[in-house]
Amino acid sequence: MLEIRDLHVQFHNRDREAVAGISLTIRDGEILGLVGESGSGKTVTAMSIAGLLPRKQCDYQGDILLDGDDLLHAQRALLRQMHGKKIGVVFQDPMSAMDPLMKVGEQVAEVLRIHTDMDAAQRRAEAVRAMALVELQDPESLYDKYPHELSGGMQQRAMIASAIVIRPSLLLLDEPTTALDVTIQAQILELLKKLNREEHISMLFISHNLNVVRKLCARVAVMQRGLIVEEGETEKIFRHPQHPYTKHLIEAIPTRESARRVKGERRAKKAAEATAAAKAAQGAAPSASAASAETREEGGIR
Ligand SMILES: Nc1ncnc2c1ncn2[C@@H]1O[C@H](COP(=O)(O)OP(=O)(O)OP(=O)(O)O)[C@@H](O)[C@H]1O
Ligand SMILES: [Mg+2]
Repeated sequence: MLEIRDLHVQFHNRDREAVAGISLTIRDGEILGLVGESGSGKTVTAMSIAGLLPRKQCDYQGDILLDGDDLLHAQRALLRQMHGKKIGVVFQDPMSAMDPLMKVGEQVAEVLRIHTDMDAAQRRAEAVRAMALVELQDPESLYDKYPHELSGGMQQRAMIASAIVIRPSLLLLDEPTTALDVTIQAQILELLKKLNREEHISMLFISHNLNVVRKLCARVAVMQRGLIVEEGETEKIFRHPQHPYTKHLIEAIPTRESARRVKGERRAKKAAEATAAAKAAQGAAPSASAASAETREEGGIR
């Protein structure tokens, strides 16, 4: 459904191409993972698909075809129309993506105001439907709340609702769970799986977190310095990475064992610090307050 052919993006103020000739296909109904080091060109790739490239600040070439329509070179008006209808976008930080002065439900419905001729009542009904779909409890009353009244997880659900309210066929997700804690992250992943399965929305899922990609994506592409260095079935790549950079990424994934070791080391260091601080303060054994501060800290370590 989406085909990128030999995409190049060169920002005028940079000496190296942000995207240096990538080709990528997202098939109907699939979730494709896109991973790679910081600055490797993942977001610029997503922005190119979403029509959000600052066109005056860069040169770009290649093709991005969505169901046969060219997205990269289309005129602004056509592009806006296609994006409103076919592509939804979700970025990392829901708090900064939401307008603090606008009701949550209105933000979800906003894209309908721009791209459809629905009246206010229809827009509200569609927004409530999308909010229910992303499992926001009591969407009717949530509609009239403001972003600060929602938790981080709820805000991200609201952002996903605003991306799918128009029933897009493709969702671009750029680090959508990075700002969330582990439990909420897991819930959002389940939600994305459900939307993919039940609403038949294809997805490009950008993440630093290979474990997350492994849970969600059947296929993955690995980027480094503007290029895709490896691409294929996620499980295959995890088991037999070919490119040195992919091997490095997979070796760097914390295992349970290494996480336990790091936690143990941190705990020992904290205990030593607390003892030293207490001795320095009193010339005696660690005080009760130093010990309890240590316990609190430990509770916070994951
Ligand atoms: N508007 C811009 N003007 C100039 N250079 C840019 C612009 N946006 C991105 N770049 C550059 O393009 C390159 C790719 O950036 P991009 O944001 O796509 O990386 P990324 O893979 O998404 O990294 P991260 O994992 O940190 O989000 C970087 O060198 C970045 O500095
Ligand atoms: Mg990025």
